Amino acid sequence: MKIDLPFHQSWIGEEEHLEVADTLSSGWLTTGPKTKKFEEAFSDYIGCKHAIALNSCTAGLNLALEVQGFPDGDEVITTPMTFPATANVILLQRMKPVLVDIESGTLLIDPKKIEEKITPRTRAIIPVHFAGHPCDMDTINTLAERYNLLVIEDAAHALETKFKGKKVGNMGNTTSFSFYANKNITTGEGGMVVTDDDDLAEQFQTMRLQGISRDAWKRYGKSGYTHWEQKMAGHKCNMSDINASIGIHQLKKIDTFLEIRRNYVAMYDRGFADVPELETLIRHNDSDHAHHIYIIALRLEQLTVDRDEFLDAMQESGIGVAVHYIALHLQPYYVENFNTKPQDYPIASNYSERIVSLPLYPKMSEADVERVINTVQDLIIKFRR
Ligand SMILES: Cc1ncc(COP(=O)(O)O)c(C=O)c1O
Repeated sequence: MKIDLPFHQSWIGEEEHLEVADTLSSGWLTTGPKTKKFEEAFSDYIGCKHAIALNSCTAGLNLALEVQGFPDGDEVITTPMTFPATANVILLQRMKPVLVDIESGTLLIDPKKIEEKITPRTRAIIPVHFAGHPCDMDTINTLAERYNLLVIEDAAHALETKFKGKKVGNMGNTTSFSFYANKNITTGEGGMVVTDDDDLAEQFQTMRLQGISRDAWKRYGKSGYTHWEQKMAGHKCNMSDINASIGIHQLKKIDTFLEIRRNYVAMYDRGFADVPELETLIRHNDSDHAHHIYIIALRLEQLTVDRDEFLDAMQESGIGVAVHYIALHLQPYYVENFNTKPQDYPIASNYSERIVSLPLYPKMSEADVERVINTVQDLIIKFRR
């Protein structure tokens, strides 16, 4: 099998190459002026007060939770339809992830089912703006206020997302974004945690670099050595200037990239509108979608193959595909440690068996998108019952 249309390819231009080269020849490779420039441009883009650049989105989620110092065993509500990172940070803080099933059609955490999972030990909600579509932040924030919960947005998919005109990154206590290789913009590996809270921002700065005082990154700089102080036991999850050099230019292209993906999504929507064996996801009119992932859900009862056979057939045709996601409660770790069963989260279980993610990125051409549509349509005809 040879995949000639990969599931994802980053689009790195001349500008990124030149900026990285400039950083390499500057002699300053770790967190420094380029990281600062990227942080400033990013907080302008989101419209928030503070943006702290990290080596991943996971690190941002982790800092947001760790800084609160919640007692072991306290609970955090999130969705099963997510990447392990979202709940790993809860587990690593020795807290308990409490999963709430998703909504049919959008695959977002079901806002109607959150309240029944809130207990006296619930401390936070981590909504995941899945695929780039925002969660119902009105309901989530109302519940958070009523029960005094923290809201930490997992915006790994949602750089460009708006909920009712409000940019993601301005609705929770903190928000974490990802610049992992396949994200809407990339720094190779990287993330950004944002907040409007001055104290939190100060703590994140310290926590990302061993708990040493905030400007410690300057300690070998041109202004000469100055003493630094350790304030806490911190992490090592700062972004380097090499990664930030890529981010500075990727961010400038974010709207252009989105426009291209939006066009491809419209092509996919048209291509699959009259295929009854396929379900495409619902997008709410009152929100701006970041179009990070395009998902089709197979109506398996109308087909002679299961999802994995369909994935194989796509790949045999040379087209890269993926699955976002097989839900957390179906993963061996959760089955073994929490005794989870498919019927605990029936909607997430059902979609986990029948979703397929198709390629969606600016580096592909309209002809590539047409090829994906034709291949899906042909396979559906071939496997139709
Ligand atoms: C929903 C979600 N949350 C968090 C992450 C973690 O992002 P990172 O790899 O930048 O830590 C990912 C990564 O793919 C993700 O998809």
